[in-house]
Formats: sequence, structure tokens, C-alpha cells
Amino acid sequence: MLSDAPAQSLQFGPFLINERTGEPYLRLPAPHENIIITAPRLQDAPHICEIMNDPRVYRWVSSPPFPYFMEHATSWLSQTKAEADAVWTELKQANVEYPNGPLKIVGKCPVRSILEENADGSYTFLGDCGIDRHRYEDVIDAEEHARVVQENNARPVGDLNIIWTIGDYLRPSHQGKGIMTAVIGTLMKAWWIPRMKIRCVRPSVFEGNGGSIRVFEKNGFVLWKTVRDCMHVMAKGEFPEELRTLHLLEWQARAS
Ligand SMILES: CC(C)(COP(=O)(O)OP(=O)(O)OC[C@H]1O[C@@H](n2cnc3c(N)ncnc32)[C@H](O)[C@@H]1OP(=O)(O)O)[C@@H](O)C(=O)NCCC(=O)NCCS
Repeated sequence: MLSDAPAQSLQFGPFLINERTGEPYLRLPAPHENIIITAPRLQDAPHICEIMNDPRVYRWVSSPPFPYFMEHATSWLSQTKAEADAVWTELKQANVEYPNGPLKIVGKCPVRSILEENADGSYTFLGDCGIDRHRYEDVIDAEEHARVVQENNARPVGDLNIIWTIGDYLRPSHQGKGIMTAVIGTLMKAWWIPRMKIRCVRPSVFEGNGGSIRVFEKNGFVLWKTVRDCMHVMAKGEFPEELRTLHLLEWQARAS
């Protein structure tokens, strides 16, 4: 069987390059050097399905459908892969035009899929960590919600006033080992802050999800706001339909 491990490491900005596929990836620092962050891969759809139908994950995520089918994973991977590929092409193109210039500031991150390298060179899909413009789930009034979303989405790439949010999940077998803390720290340092000019991030976390709150705290986030009973969540497996309380965490770049 052909190994899909990177044959050797070239470098492009902070990214290592898989010599066989030409795709960028980031490697986590010790003790997680066997974990990399790459562009989404279509072959990971069955793994996403398995993870999204696990109550240890679906209990805490709001956007993915439930039950979660292969078509959901395929559609989500196609969309996020297209976004990652587009920004990677944009970066490579800018580098051809200005080979000695700094990497261009862009509006997306070319990597987000979390993979574990196995001893035989194959990979296990572990999860995902994506950053997007904020969705303002905490703004209840429909008109005001539409206004602030529109205003934030209209800000141009590189605008320091854009408010961002993070969506993340990890395969349950790998939770509690410090992996997502390292993933978020690596993405912030390598790409989100320097190359997307991200200065304010406000992820939202359901009340009770202490692990997720802790991951953000370990990366310098603080509790910004709690909005009680603001999100209507349909019944999922053993969890009833209910109004959930959201905690919004916040990270702000220090003024320099
Ligand atoms: C939340 C999630 C992404 C965290 O990833 P992870 O790799 O397991 O997190 P880490 O191991 O880096 O850190 C977890 C921290 O939370 C702590 N923790 C775990 N459960 C906790 C709880 N119920 N209350 C308080 N702290 C908790 C751990 O002790 C650890 O902190 P420590 O290093 O200070 O001991 C992962 O558990 C997950 O995918 N959960 C299901 C989906 C989800 O909740 N996504 C986020 C939606 S906002």
C-alpha cells in the first residue's frame, strides 16, 4: 500500500509542504509532533460521519445536522476543501509575482483538518478547527442580528476590526490529551494572527462544556459574555429539545 505520509519537508511561509501532493501542512509542537493540520480531504468523510454521530461530540456542536449522514460530510468537505484550495492558489500566485516579498494577507486559512500520522505512514482523521467571521448567535433581535452580521461580513480582508469565531471538534478517543489546545495555539501563531490579521475572536460555547472553555482559556481567551437561554437546539439522541445558554469567550490582540 502506498503511504500518504509527506515524503519530505519543503517550506512555504510557516507551512511544510507534502512533496508528493504539494499540499501545505503545519506540525504540532512536542509532545504532539505526530499530529498535523492539513487542508480538508474528501476521503475523510466516513470518519467525520462517525465522529459527528457520537454523543460526546454532537451534544456540544450547534451547526452540524443530526443524525449526520455521508452526504453531509461530503458536502461540508467539498466546500471547505474548495475554500482552502482557493486561498492556497492565491498565496502561490502572489509568491510567483513577488518571490521575495512577504506572504500576502488573506481572508482564510489553507489548513484546518487535524490528522494523526501512524507508524505505517497512513493518517487517522482526528477532527477539525476552523475560523470564520462571527455569527452573532448572542444577538437575539432579528433585525439587529442581520445588521451586525452584514457589517462584519462587509469588512475587507485584513481589516483589524473583523470579529471572528472558531468551530472545533476532536475524535472522542483523543480528547483530554492537550491536542486542541495545541492546534488552536499553532494556528493562531502561524497563520491567523500574522497572515489573516486576526485581532478579535469570540467563540461561543454551550453552558456545561467545561473542556472547550478550558481550551480557549489556555490560549489566552477570557469569558466575555453569557447569554442565557438564547439558542434553540432540537432533540439529539438522548438530549432533549431545549433552549441553551451560551458563553462567549474573547481573545483580543494586545495593542503594540
Ligand atoms: C472541546 C474539545 C475540542 C477540546 O479538545 P481537547 O483536545 O480534548 O482539549 P485539551 O485536552 O487540549 O484541553 C481540555 C482541557 O479541559 C479540561 N476539561 C475537560 N473537561 C472539563 C470539564 N468538564 N470542566 C472543566 N475542564 C475540563 C481538561 O482538564 C483540559 O484542561 P487542563 O489541560 O488544564 O487539564 C474536545 O473535547 C471536543 O471535541 N469536544 C466535543 C465537541 C466540542 O465540544 N467542540 C467545541 C464546541 S464549542
